[in-house]
Amino acid sequence: MSFLIAVLVIVIIAAIIFLAWFISYRQKGGCPVCALQKITKPTKNTIPVENEPAYSNKAALTPPMGWSSWNTFRQNISEELILSTAVAMKATGLLDAGYKYINLDDCWQSSMRDENGRLQGDLEKFPHGIPALISAINRMGMKVGLYSSNGTLTCEDLPASLGNEVKDAQTIAEWGCEFFKYDFCHHKIISGNAPVVEAIEISAPGKSAELTLYPENAEFGGRAAALNIKKLPTGKGIGFLNHGAGSATFRPVINTGGKYVLTILTYKQFTRSESYLQVIINGEIYEVFFPRTNAASPTARTQLVVKLDGGTSEIIIKNPVATVADSSYIQYRRMGKALKDVSKKISYEKGTEEKPIVFSICEWGIAHPWNWGAKAGNMWRTTLDIFAKWYSIHMIYRRTLKLYSYARVGAWNDPDMLEVGNGKLTDEENKTHFSLWCMLAAPLILGNDLRLLIGSDGEPKKDSSILKTVTNKSLILIDQDSLGKPAKMIKKFHGIDIIARPLANGDAALCFYNTTAHVKGISFDINDAAADEYLNLNSSSSYQVHELWSDERFSAKTISASLQKHGCKVYRISSN
Ligand code: GAL
Repeated sequence: MSFLIAVLVIVIIAAIIFLAWFISYRQKGGCPVCALQKITKPTKNTIPVENEPAYSNKAALTPPMGWSSWNTFRQNISEELILSTAVAMKATGLLDAGYKYINLDDCWQSSMRDENGRLQGDLEKFPHGIPALISAINRMGMKVGLYSSNGTLTCEDLPASLGNEVKDAQTIAEWGCEFFKYDFCHHKIISGNAPVVEAIEISAPGKSAELTLYPENAEFGGRAAALNIKKLPTGKGIGFLNHGAGSATFRPVINTGGKYVLTILTYKQFTRSESYLQVIINGEIYEVFFPRTNAASPTARTQLVVKLDGGTSEIIIKNPVATVADSSYIQYRRMGKALKDVSKKISYEKGTEEKPIVFSICEWGIAHPWNWGAKAGNMWRTTLDIFAKWYSIHMIYRRTLKLYSYARVGAWNDPDMLEVGNGKLTDEENKTHFSLWCMLAAPLILGNDLRLLIGSDGEPKKDSSILKTVTNKSLILIDQDSLGKPAKMIKKFHGIDIIARPLANGDAALCFYNTTAHVKGISFDINDAAADEYLNLNSSSSYQVHELWSDERFSAKTISASLQKHGCKVYRISSN
């Protein structure tokens, strides 16, 4: 009984606290119901991303192929290691097989930005600097990738790019970087709160306001509204701009187009926590962050320099961030845009061909980046980090397989870098790992020590099973297929996954993967796969079949195979 009373008391206290928060949030001009979305559906975008344009920077039209330092070397990287890896990439034939990016993961940076606030390489480990390293690798015929985080620091606590997006994009692009991985450590979610806006002023720089626009001059969208706020000098302010609740649109008329100062006058009471607004002027987004404050005055003046056209302009103010997914989308899109803009600018200034930068979103799948990644970048991690253990590879494969419909040409699901050749994976497991990544249309970023593929005589180890695995041409062709459609599950059969993907020339790739720790047999009627419309494979009484590991070719309607523990077979099937 006393337990029930205690529970009841807790529930009542919680309800009172909730109600008090609800009422005070509303009184301060915020929409409490909208704010709750952050808790109730954090991984859902409330910003209609489906209406946003695709990223399309003309990079990664097929899944990028290369090597990254992280899986094997972690923080122990240096100029010498990177250069010798590039030499090995070329000497082993990996470059000819399609692996062209040499990616420096975390720890390439010095903990100190330079005197101009620009990122710089570790001063001890990269003595000739990153630009010289990039040039040297470019001369060998390869491209270079760099890494940063969408946070205040990287995962290894080095300087990262949140708040420095344009500067860092400019720096790495000037250096000739062509791949940029953007992590999620030390991230800061954009606040969904919005200040109450008393007015906006437009002035020429250094001049007094030419035009002041008040709530009565605005058109309201959604729940946004003019509220009576006694403490404000005008007694009125625009509220309910928070968590995607609504927007206010002004249409000022300016005689001459050019640079202007836009001053936003806000009511401080609601800004005791951080808040955020987007000011969208004739389609261009300006972001404004309002700090927490203990200041004494009731109003704040926040200024930004904006571009206005002569004639009527459209100025929309709102905070569209309701959920974590909205916040991640905005931040990754910000960096993606900076990269795209800068590579265009550099090619224009130099009169050279554009070097687009592959933008690799490494957000670990938290805010479901497959929903918004194609609008912000070229590829997005689907899960947390991979390890050279079978359970990790299997789990990542299964999760990514389900996301097949989100990938498309130029925008890929990224199940993380390869562990082929790492840890204690067996030859069979290495082959299966590689096969599954090719079936998933995954970026093929090697994570092993490439220098070990060169013998003491300086010659590549042509017989190395690792080298043979990652240079299997027929498998790479599947991965790089121009249709860009990853595999989906066709059937599960006693611990065997049967997955398949359609290919550009009308063929299909079919893979049997034995998920169990025992040898398994399977017999499969190809017509069961052809019946799936996704494959676009004409059904037939006999198919041309090519097994891509054994190179065996035959005609059949039914394929029978024996599969080793964690083993697989991959077939290219043609119906004519
Ligand atoms: C992780 C990321 C890894 C690696 C590492 C570097 O967040 O998922 O792939 O980049 O950070 O610190």
